[in-house]
Amino acid sequence: MEKIIQLQDIFFSYGDFKAIDGISLDIGAGVYGLLGPNGAGKTTLLKVVLGFLTPSSGHGRVLGMGISSSRKAVRRKIGYMPENDCLIPGMDGVTLTAYLGELSGMPRQEAIKRAHEVLYYVGLEEERYRKVDTYSAGMKQRLKLAQALVHDPQLLLLDEPTSGMDPKGRKEMLDLIKDIAGKGSMNVIICSHLLPDIENTCRRVIILDKGRIAASHDIEGVSEDRFNRFNLKLKGETGAFLEKLESLKCEIDVTDRGLYKIKLPAQESSRKLFEIALASKVQIRHFQQSRTTLEDTFVTAIGVNHEH
Ligand SMILES: Nc1ncnc2c1ncn2[C@@H]1O[C@H](COP(=O)(O)OP(=O)(O)O)[C@@H](O)[C@H]1O
Ligand SMILES: [Mg+2]
Repeated sequence: MEKIIQLQDIFFSYGDFKAIDGISLDIGAGVYGLLGPNGAGKTTLLKVVLGFLTPSSGHGRVLGMGISSSRKAVRRKIGYMPENDCLIPGMDGVTLTAYLGELSGMPRQEAIKRAHEVLYYVGLEEERYRKVDTYSAGMKQRLKLAQALVHDPQLLLLDEPTSGMDPKGRKEMLDLIKDIAGKGSMNVIICSHLLPDIENTCRRVIILDKGRIAASHDIEGVSEDRFNRFNLKLKGETGAFLEKLESLKCEIDVTDRGLYKIKLPAQESSRKLFEIALASKVQIRHFQQSRTTLEDTFVTAIGVNHEH
């Protein structure tokens, strides 16, 4: 497998606060998702990969180059769509995109030509001569994507690409990302705290929490039994409840966070769980149907009270 990013025991702190608390990972070619709640360390990790932040310890390679040794060369080959605004007030869309292309090492004429192309691609053809300060939140996101694409990078890092967008804009942004991914010529990493963003675009997902890798997950095809999986938190004496579930041929897993993951046989409905709980004098304190396998992994890794 071609290695796009390799990190080994990376630590990074802001002052005393450990934002990256020992991360090792291998990312191959293709499209990867980096999923985690706000504050998990996703943005910090991207900045370490880009060489904007220097880890306090650990080694890393990106596209075959050392992250701390060849920062300039690394950035020429990486397109970065940051989470926060990177737009320069007073510039129009084309000028800004071309300028950022030049900063990535493109000759001026080529940068200008490519700027027009990528702005057309992201759907900003009409607005390309407008000052970027007058752009809506959705247009700014598109422009941020355009500037990340302008120098035709080998690796695209997208940080919260649908941030601030309305549902229609979000769908269009995800469609663009899927289109880029589908072409297969660019490796893509998408960071998001939104499960659907990752689920819609990636097949391979790394889940981050509190500066560590909490799980990794391959999104499989849609499994038929996915609607019969439930995550429960229980209060009371659970012995009788679990025995009855077992006699119904349920599959039961308990996570170390005390979450019961129950798969009901196909013919049973979730109502059965409540009936058995009532009969066994157990209180169901939390009940969630797990709709997809990624959601299941995420809930198990992060706990139930994550933000959506
Ligand atoms: N410049 C900074 N100074 C101090 N703490 C920071 C700074 N940037 C981020 N943090 C903290 O580091 C943690 C990880 O942040 P971040 O990488 O932005 O997470 P994510 O992108 O997953 O939301 C958070 O707790 C955040 O508050
Ligand atoms: Mg972030």
